[in-house]
Amino acid sequence: MAQTSFIRSDQGVLFAEGVSLEAIAKQFGTPTYIYSKNTLIKTFESFKQGLLKSDHLICFAVKSNSNIAILNLFASLGAGFDIVSGGELERVIYAGGDPQKIVFSGVGKTEPEIELALKANILCFNAESRSELLRIQEVAKKLNVKASISIRVNPDVDAKTHPYISTGLKDNKFGVDFNQAMPLYIEAKSMSHIEIKGIDCHIGSQITELKPFLDSLDRVLSLEGLLKKNDIHLSHIDIGGGIGICYQDESPPDFEIYTKEILSKIKDLNIKIIFEPGRALVGNAGVLLSKVEYLKKNDVKHFAIIDAAMNDLMRPTLYDAYHEIKVVHEHEAKLQVFDIVGPVCESGDFIAKNRSLKLKENDLVCIMSAGAYGMSMSSNYNSRRRAAEVMVDQDKLFEIRAREKSSDLFKLEKKLPL
Ligand code: LLP
Repeated sequence: MAQTSFIRSDQGVLFAEGVSLEAIAKQFGTPTYIYSKNTLIKTFESFKQGLLKSDHLICFAVKSNSNIAILNLFASLGAGFDIVSGGELERVIYAGGDPQKIVFSGVGKTEPEIELALKANILCFNAESRSELLRIQEVAKKLNVKASISIRVNPDVDAKTHPYISTGLKDNKFGVDFNQAMPLYIEAKSMSHIEIKGIDCHIGSQITELKPFLDSLDRVLSLEGLLKKNDIHLSHIDIGGGIGICYQDESPPDFEIYTKEILSKIKDLNIKIIFEPGRALVGNAGVLLSKVEYLKKNDVKHFAIIDAAMNDLMRPTLYDAYHEIKVVHEHEAKLQVFDIVGPVCESGDFIAKNRSLKLKENDLVCIMSAGAYGMSMSSNYNSRRRAAEVMVDQDKLFEIRAREKSSDLFKLEKKLPL
């Protein structure tokens, strides 16, 4: 997906769809996440485009952006959801998602979470270990229902992405080793309250090449063939998420090529294909608007201290991730090289490093490609209130999450009876 395209410049001022970012700052303050409804719709529809003739389900990975308005929008477009916790399950249901389009991933599903998901009658559990499978069987037995499962296999394929977001290698905690999968399927087949539905893999995130996806699908398909020989017939293959986006100069595969190549590998199988994209659907449909509080320089560096920080957007700190910075209202300041940092008391609190920008104090800046793993990974560190979130739809503007109040920060805490 191309870089954040809903942000455009009109006479030197940035707009999100038809709304000026200055107007958004005025109405909602900063830092504020801004999403584009039409980009979300367009991106989802273009992912779907190559799949229209196939039996498929697109399960949006809720962890990438879990705002209710976004989940509700995707649900209205027919999306399913990939969840990893009871909290995400409740969000999806509240947002109007169809439980029969939910897959439940994650290595540590608790008993109450499994129970919740069984009672909601979700489409499928992606079981990540033998112990988990046994637990799902136990809970299903207690509730007297059958649990639909896939086994998440670890295809041992190098996704060639940042080590923190690579999940398909042997030394990652995810999935079941390839050589353990077959015996586990056979064991699962004998379990009274388990119904085998599919096979699942997910090899990592922000993957910009096609080959790792195709390699892991080849491995999954070889296992599917073996399962058939053992009279285990699957109704779906879940290939996970992971397609990257353009943050700077990456060129991830087009959706069209990605889906075409995948479908061509399974065309003779008569099987449903499930995708779990997160970032690819929302990453470039959102930005973070922030204000420059201070400019500061020392002997070696210029700093721009903005009002967004690592608690609002953790990706630069955690993965050394690149997010482009744009000045909202162009002006004639001197071009200088800045580190863009937040107010949090950590040297690691930076949003961008060594950027050539023309900046003045009180400028608004737009942090690009922030729609995925931005707000959903934010925290209250330093007792900072979490940002507001708004959605633009042409010239209309909707608040989809209010800025937290200070009282929200400690409303669950209690004083000791001294
Ligand atoms: N399915 C499973 C089982 C996953 O674990 C993930 C992401 C996805 C799907 C969606 O992956 P996507 O299509 O978004 O790449 N916080 C990191 C990314 C962590 C991804 C975790 N799992 C970041 O900001 O880059």
